[in-house]
Amino acid sequence: MSLQRKWFYDHVAQTSEMALGLEVKQTEGVFIYDVDDKRYFDLNSGISVSSLGHRHPEVVGKVKSQLDKYLHTMVYGEHIQEPQTSYARMLTTILNNHLDNVYFVNSGSEAVEAAIKLARKYTGRFEIISAAGAYHGSTIAAESLRSDTDYTKHFVPTIPGVMHIRFNEEGDLAMITDQTACVIMEPVQAESGIIVPQGDYLQKVQKRCRETGTLFVLDEIQTGFGRTGYFFAFQKYKVQPDILLIAKGMGGGMPIGALVSSKGILKTFASQPALGHITTFGGHPVCVAAANATLDVLSRENIICLVAKKENIFLERLLHPLIKNVRSSGLFMAVELTDAACLTPAINAIYQHRVIVDYFLFHDAAFRIAPPLIISEEEIHEACDLILKALDTIKKG
Ligand SMILES: Cc1ncc(COP(=O)(O)O)c(C=O)c1O
Repeated sequence: MSLQRKWFYDHVAQTSEMALGLEVKQTEGVFIYDVDDKRYFDLNSGISVSSLGHRHPEVVGKVKSQLDKYLHTMVYGEHIQEPQTSYARMLTTILNNHLDNVYFVNSGSEAVEAAIKLARKYTGRFEIISAAGAYHGSTIAAESLRSDTDYTKHFVPTIPGVMHIRFNEEGDLAMITDQTACVIMEPVQAESGIIVPQGDYLQKVQKRCRETGTLFVLDEIQTGFGRTGYFFAFQKYKVQPDILLIAKGMGGGMPIGALVSSKGILKTFASQPALGHITTFGGHPVCVAAANATLDVLSRENIICLVAKKENIFLERLLHPLIKNVRSSGLFMAVELTDAACLTPAINAIYQHRVIVDYFLFHDAAFRIAPPLIISEEEIHEACDLILKALDTIKKG
């Protein structure tokens, strides 16, 4: 065992008893290289983060030039920092709607926390509605949005006032009332195994929110920045959130998140009382510099418009007796197996073939494929060949 591996298991806290334990040496594009120079296809993008691939040259360039100017200068929201102002201007120009104000935070979970506070303060209401089978983060308020009580029972009390509706069940929308501060929802449910909204479901949610004066919060922390083939999934599914939550792919590999809303809503944080949300490092200039490069590349290059074509290649190639179906929204895919007992052997065999795919939190028979959006057609074919070869080695139980 290498010294690094020993120190990892001895001194770095683990989140499970089955860490993947890939010892990283270097990354480039869609590949991660281990210390033995073995090359792995990263078909997860580090859970929907590396949309531009690893170490995109423009992201690295902007980070390096920001390092030469300044790092942290003051807690968020006091100093004028060019990376933040340029980013907020560019993103809100691209959005070109009422989402004209950006509050920078550090992560997806913090964006969710802040959205809950913002919605309660803005509406003066208490109740929050989220969808069963959603994952919105790991802080206590974000975990309170989880419907899986077998998990949350270990962390009680979760925050009060949270109710769950079933995703795609129109009948449940009556639970949204004039007591509801906000509905928080993913446009495509990620951790339940890529569950897409059926028909005009999201539009109906939005309509019910408008009727009851409830804020409609869309968590695009996984779906944002081109993952579904549109800049944001709300554009694909033709809705307009009051608050948009972003993180993950936003930073091109650097940690950052944000709430995007109207100035009218976001100014709620600024008075009565002021400092409605405080974050020391939110919108760190180096991370926002990386986000600027990411946004620049995505808006300039033909990346998002090729997502649907690449999605189709995966769908055409991923045919195997062990594969029951593939659900997808762009390069955001769940490969469901015919037998749940085969899931762990399949993920392990795929890894042995040097392709990284991953579990979903709430689906016991499907694995996740969410590759960097810059993956080439050739690379997709090569990765699919390896996946199919790996599945050939699995014996049905
Ligand atoms: C949809 C969604 N929301 C929120 C989060 C939390 O983001 P973070 O891990 O950056 O706190 C995640 C993380 O996986 C997510 O998938």
